[in-house]
Amino acid sequence: MMYPEYRPRRLRRTESLRALIRETTLSPKHLIYPLFIIHGKGIKQPIDAMPGCYQFSVDAVVKEAKEVFDLGINAVLLFGLPEKKDSRGSHAWIKSGVVQKAISAIKKSVPDLLVVTDVCLCEYTSHGHCGVLSNGRIDNDATLELLTKVALSHARAGADIVAPSDMMDGRVGTIREALDEHGFDQIPILSYAVKYASSFYGPFREAAECAPKSGDRRSYQMDPANAREAMREAMLDLEEGADILMVKPAMPYLDIIHLLRQEFTLPIAAYQVSGEYSMIKAASSKGWLDEARVVEESLLSIRRAGADVIITYFAKDIARNL
Ligand code: PBG
Repeated sequence: MMYPEYRPRRLRRTESLRALIRETTLSPKHLIYPLFIIHGKGIKQPIDAMPGCYQFSVDAVVKEAKEVFDLGINAVLLFGLPEKKDSRGSHAWIKSGVVQKAISAIKKSVPDLLVVTDVCLCEYTSHGHCGVLSNGRIDNDATLELLTKVALSHARAGADIVAPSDMMDGRVGTIREALDEHGFDQIPILSYAVKYASSFYGPFREAAECAPKSGDRRSYQMDPANAREAMREAMLDLEEGADILMVKPAMPYLDIIHLLRQEFTLPIAAYQVSGEYSMIKAASSKGWLDEARVVEESLLSIRRAGADVIITYFAKDIARNL
């Protein structure tokens, strides 16, 4: 096919023509909206570093969940800010925890909205790490037992999907086994399979108050320089029983999403993280970017790279615009 017989512009002439041959689609049904749950009543507290995002008390989050569902969004992802933190993060698995309460409240009033829960300890530990800290190290195998308790407590409260984000070795298999043993064989695991030690999580650490007090997460989250290792991580999680594989962050790692898409048949999710959100918000607020268009383009790029599902703080905005 050569010019002048072939002219690519022929199919770009009108919006109807462009729509006819559009390869990638975007729908609120692909999106998961993250929510931060805090103790108290009647609270909707703005998050400075993430304009348009809030910390909600359990009663307030129910209202928000209804609004999300009415916009056509299928799923929310819950993060908890506990009343108390301790060295083991025990408020992550108590029955009266904020997330556990939010799960049952949301399922009661919006039963068809999927409730996905982040399974991790960093928001609950006094040191801010995602696992048990002993002698300055994160003890992998001791952490697995606690993660199991967290996942089970979420399943008992009525979670539809659990999403371990800690990056401990062996967590998917351990959680799968525990869920099955306790009658939760129908609860899928959305695994943060390929989670990089990224500086794009900065604003989230304010939102979820979970910055590590010492050191960083590079001994458990992945080195941003590595792509082949991403395939090994994904393979491990697949073999341990993950139902959906996630890549995180999204935009700086489109190559990784694409690699996984080519190698695996499982559904793939991508997390457009807090830093990706706040960059677009900040530039738009200065008038340097057209927010609505940039958001749509960013989500399309993530889908085009191969993601089936996108976790994004823009879910409500984009659902309104679609
Ligand atoms: C908890 C967790 C983090 C994010 C999701 N789950 C923070 C981290 O690992 O430091 C980041 C999400 C975002 O930046 O939007 N482990």
